Amino acid sequence: MKVPQRLRPLVEEGLVDDVLSQLMSGKEATVFVVRCGDEVRCAKVYKDAKQRSFKNAVSYTEGRKVKNSRQARAMEKGTRYGKQMQEELWQNAEVDALFKLAAAGVRVPKPYICTDGVLLMELVTDAEGDVAPRLNDVELSPERARECHQFLLNQVVRMLCAGVIHGDLSEYNILMAEDGPVIIDLPQAIDAAANNEAQVHLQRDVQNLATYFGQFAPELLTTQYGKEIWQHYVAGTLTTETPLTGQARIDNTPVDMAGLMQEIEATRREQEARLRRMQGISEPGRDN
Ligand SMILES: Nc1ncnc2c1ncn2[C@@H]1O[C@H](COP(=O)(O)OP(=O)(O)O)[C@@H](O)[C@H]1O
Ligand SMILES: [Mg+2]
Repeated sequence: MKVPQRLRPLVEEGLVDDVLSQLMSGKEATVFVVRCGDEVRCAKVYKDAKQRSFKNAVSYTEGRKVKNSRQARAMEKGTRYGKQMQEELWQNAEVDALFKLAAAGVRVPKPYICTDGVLLMELVTDAEGDVAPRLNDVELSPERARECHQFLLNQVVRMLCAGVIHGDLSEYNILMAEDGPVIIDLPQAIDAAANNEAQVHLQRDVQNLATYFGQFAPELLTTQYGKEIWQHYVAGTLTTETPLTGQARIDNTPVDMAGLMQEIEATRREQEARLRRMQGISEPGRDN
């Protein structure tokens, strides 16, 4: 097919030889099958920030690092340079996550390079060598559903052990390759330690898996793997071998009532003092 405008720089740089077909034009990106030498690969062309939807929200990008404070200030001010930095940060987040996760033993497409707003990666294929279908498009027996669910839970745990939460994990972002499920679409990947809403994102990802596989194996619908995984993560006991039961632990630690009351009283006093200071009234016993 005719080389789309956005892929021309890669053709000129010799990274891509031919564009074979267009796979998908989703909300965030347009995906092409390309030929690089004698290999067939996948090229994901990111859409402009303006055309993108929810994924750029602060809730996802919180805690992401920039190289220096000049860039951070420019991004805060929203200057043109700042916006360009933000774009690069967003696009590089996916290739960074792919390299990191592949190293952590997560089955993701092998990344090659991200340049000119295009991510070049392995094309995930099925047993026939065709482009792999999305999980959403395959029928599963109850056994196969349980097996894939367990495998994907372990992938989620591996990701979390590497400090990453997918953030948009669902049957639309998992491909069924010849060798099993492959997780894709990671520009919104979340830094588990730096993001205040990490737990919410993790539990939603895990819940999406239970809901999807629960169609084929209904007993999965009532499991609590997300909570359980998070409890292990917070307690520092999560490893890729941690046995999971699907039940979250009930917190039986007795509450220290006296301590709690003291804490509340101290907070109340601080708040009162703050109010007095704001109103310009000096605190009793202090003549400032
Ligand atoms: N490496 C890949 N191999 C095969 N197909 C892919 C690959 N990456 C993406 N796709 C296809 O393109 C679609 C969109 O890609 P995705 O990364 O999910 O972007 P979007 O943000 O637009 O959802 C996927 O649902 C999948 O069908
Ligand atoms: Mg997607």
